[in-house]
Amino acid sequence: MAATAALDMFKLGFIGAGNMAESIARGVAKLGVLPPSSIRITHCRTERRLVFESFGVKILETNAQVVDDSDIIILSVKPQIVKKVLLELKSFLSEEKVLVSVAAGIKLKDLQEWSGQRRIIRVMPNTPAAVGLAASVMCVGEMATKKDEERVTSLFNAIGKIWTADEKYFDAVTGLSGSGPAYIYVAIEALADGGVAAGLPRDLALGLASQTVLGAAAMVNHTGRHPGQLKDAVTSPAGTTIAGIQELERGSFRGTLMNAVVAATKRCQELSQT
Ligand SMILES: NC(=O)c1ccc[n+]([C@@H]2O[C@H](COP(=O)([O-])OP(=O)(O)OC[C@H]3O[C@@H](n4cnc5c(N)ncnc54)[C@H](OP(=O)(O)O)[C@@H]3O)[C@@H](O)[C@H]2O)c1
Repeated sequence: MAATAALDMFKLGFIGAGNMAESIARGVAKLGVLPPSSIRITHCRTERRLVFESFGVKILETNAQVVDDSDIIILSVKPQIVKKVLLELKSFLSEEKVLVSVAAGIKLKDLQEWSGQRRIIRVMPNTPAAVGLAASVMCVGEMATKKDEERVTSLFNAIGKIWTADEKYFDAVTGLSGSGPAYIYVAIEALADGGVAAGLPRDLALGLASQTVLGAAAMVNHTGRHPGQLKDAVTSPAGTTIAGIQELERGSFRGTLMNAVVAATKRCQELSQT
């Protein structure tokens, strides 16, 4: 893959060197957004340190050292321990640094209160970050600058696409792009089962189902055409595709997907209140 021109040089640290941190660090290093030597992590477990070390990331001893030696700090620990970790790091943070949180459900105001920091950006990525196809959304805290936003955009563009939205949309973002991959896994499994029911071998059916979902998503993204237009273009009168779509409509396919997003959004709202 061609290297992307670096916007500028800065030091990036991760607090919580788990799956999401690894996806971001690998994407950033692979696309040349930053050299791996500009990325630093710490971890109590050797195997996690070795994973990051294997592609050139600098390994430090403590979370405090990571904060001290970074311009942008991505907080990527589990949401349950965000408060504890931020309270511990509060005295090492300052307004020269940008705090970026990917912790699901943790609001800017809480991040601000626990860290004492106002230069904060909150990002909600999703699991396809692991294969460079994340759909991420960020909201920007009051003291974060345009440059901070650009830098964070460049980091999350390295693992997919990123949009900016007001924080009030974050529960719905969770309901759509956060939970969405699971809806599509169910859809791929169901399409494959349909193929098997229609006589296809299982492996062929699963490969065709997942590649078809990938291809359809790429058609929407690359052509910029509305999915309704793309659907109309492949449904000939009395043809096979419209017969399939009629069955989808009988099964309330669209309404079911809409309800799934709304139900997940409501559940996210409930969880953030407890
Ligand atoms: N994975 C995703 O696709 C995804 C999507 C959206 C948002 N997120 C958010 O990203 C965050 C991380 O998720 P993840 O999937 O990457 O989880 P993860 O793989 O469990 O990563 C968290 C890492 O933090 C480490 N850790 C635990 N306590 C720590 C401490 N006090 N200081 C520093 N590190 C500590 C954990 O080590 P141990 O394993 O040894 O405990 C683990 O390696 C979560 O807040 C999640 O909501 C993830």
